Amino acid sequence: MLFLLLPLIAVLPGGDSADGLKEPVSFHVIQISSFYNHSWARNLGSGWLDDLQTHTWDSNSGTIIFLRPWSRGNFSNEEWMELETLIHIHFIRFNEGIHSYASVLQFKYPFELQVIGGCELHSGKVPRGFIRVAYQGSDFMSFQEDSCLPSPGAGNAAQRFCRAVNQDQVNKVLVHRFNETCPRLLLGLLDSGKAHLQQQVKPEAWLSSGSSPGPGHLLLVCHVSGFYPKSVWVMWMRGEQEQAGTQRGDVLPNADETWYLRATLEVAAGEAAGLACRVKHSSLEGQDIVLYWGHHNSVGLIILAVIVPLLLVIICLAFWFRKRRFH
Ligand SMILES: *[C@@H]1O[C@H](CO)[C@@H](O)[C@H](O)[C@H]1NC(C)=O
Ligand SMILES: *[C@@H]1O[C@H](CO)[C@@H](O)[C@H](O)[C@H]1NC(C)=O
Ligand SMILES: *[C@@H]1O[C@H](CO)[C@@H](O)[C@H](O)[C@H]1NC(C)=O
Repeated sequence: MLFLLLPLIAVLPGGDSADGLKEPVSFHVIQISSFYNHSWARNLGSGWLDDLQTHTWDSNSGTIIFLRPWSRGNFSNEEWMELETLIHIHFIRFNEGIHSYASVLQFKYPFELQVIGGCELHSGKVPRGFIRVAYQGSDFMSFQEDSCLPSPGAGNAAQRFCRAVNQDQVNKVLVHRFNETCPRLLLGLLDSGKAHLQQQVKPEAWLSSGSSPGPGHLLLVCHVSGFYPKSVWVMWMRGEQEQAGTQRGDVLPNADETWYLRATLEVAAGEAAGLACRVKHSSLEGQDIVLYWGHHNSVGLIILAVIVPLLLVIICLAFWFRKRRFH
């Protein structure tokens, strides 16, 4: 069964293939609306191609900021201007609607609503759209086709909210427009941003010891940083044997849009020798990085090996000169 699945995973754009290659496959917009009191709300809006931010909404000027030279995809200026108008209308209606329904919905000021809407590309299938809303960080409602569905556990408030949304014809038009626009924009961005998205940046790796997990034990830390794309494979090894105790951290962003990851392994002090950290990444083209524990401090050892004899020679010479002077 696994053998049948493997080639399939390799061709799916979202699947992590053996060499860690992964392409962006979704476009989504994020809206964060903070409602401070009955008359005051603040909206933040952004557009994302997977983990890569491509757009920001400037609520002061009511315009879209294009963060990349290729963020316009294949849309014309007219289409972007029309979208700006629709987003502007959406924000005004959203704020007014929430303010006027807040007491019915039992939303207590101050509160925050988060909206995520987008579309995902699955190989060979029609892109799938999604819109979800959270109240105070918990799932509140989502859209199935073009109708609002309360989230399980969101209670009466979500049911009332959906009843209102489902009766709103303008909202239906906006959802349809979003659903129609998103896949076209996604495909256009994948094409216009191809050079950026397909770049390969090699990781650097280094080892350190973490704070001791207990007497007689070591925490070996393997740092991998500066790689792009995000997908990476890191494992502590003894020879060809993967060490099951390897703990992988979260893949964290660096400021330059590359990624960072650390993998740790707890071992008894006597068992550290011979362990190595192995890194596979698409940019390395099969030339895995392998770092052996104990070798990382070899620079220190070399310095020690040169300095100590040198000091000894100097001390001996000094003694010799002193003895000669006092003769
Ligand atoms: C609402 O909040 C804003 C920002 O904190 C404040 O400037 C404004 O005076 C508040 N208005 C009311 C009616 O409380
Ligand atoms: C979005 O479009 C897909 C097909 O392109 C359709 O199946 C789906 O029902 C649409 N959803 C909405 C909310 O219009
Ligand atoms: C942009 O590219 C997509 C995918 O190739 C295509 O479906 C769409 O018609 C193109 N043009 C516009 C204006 O969306």
